[in-house]
Amino acid sequence: MSSLAAAEELTQQEPAKVIQPAWVRAMHWTNAVAMILMIMSGWQIYNASPLFGFTFPRSITLGGWLGGALLWHFAAMWLLMVNGLIYLITGFATGRFRRKLLPITPTGVVSDVKAALTFRLAHDDLSKYNYVQKLLYAGIIAVGIVIVLSGLSIWKPVQLQWLTALFGGYDTAHYVHFICMASIVAFLVVHVALALLVPKSLRAMIIGR
Ligand code: HEM
Repeated sequence: MSSLAAAEELTQQEPAKVIQPAWVRAMHWTNAVAMILMIMSGWQIYNASPLFGFTFPRSITLGGWLGGALLWHFAAMWLLMVNGLIYLITGFATGRFRRKLLPITPTGVVSDVKAALTFRLAHDDLSKYNYVQKLLYAGIIAVGIVIVLSGLSIWKPVQLQWLTALFGGYDTAHYVHFICMASIVAFLVVHVALALLVPKSLRAMIIGR
């Protein structure tokens, strides 16, 4: 084949399908950075007055001491809240959440869990989420909203007392905040492990296709 014909063939090839649009990738990675800063500084805050009978190793915390950790926590909070709000508004306005995350049916989830456990879950079309992914992604968005609201209610329990009351008071909001963090960390462990096991999905999140 002449080089001209080869070039012609190349230009006639279908452009590679975009799996993750640029705005989703930008917000995803901004969110990942903000979450990691919030988690590590949160662990340092926790260590100053532990809710449970353990503390987090100093090497995986951020801020050095309570005051430093609070500064990190509140700085990353703005990144998380602004990015998160734009992500939610764009997700609803473009219909992406509806298209990608709905419907979530119990039978779909059960059959995909079975398929995953027997290594028969297909990953051919990365632009479509399976039911387990839909449930986990919708769930983690909800947890993200609750951790921000519970965080606001323990930060400003006087100014936002209606919000603190909605959580059942300051102490409950504090436990809710911690449990949300633990769910996010558990999600992150599974999410990162699966992204490494299915490298095509990681590639789509980095370069979009
Ligand atoms: C708008 C968002 C947030 C606000 C306003 C906020 C606020 C706060 C405040 C005021 C505390 C100190 C509570 C205390 O007095 O002990 C705290 C603790 C903490 N935060 Fe956040 N937070 C937010 C988001 C997050 C996120 C996204 C994470 C992790 C994913 C997180 C993880 C933690 C942890 C682990 C603690 C320590 C909990 C404890 O003392 O038991 N926070 N947060």
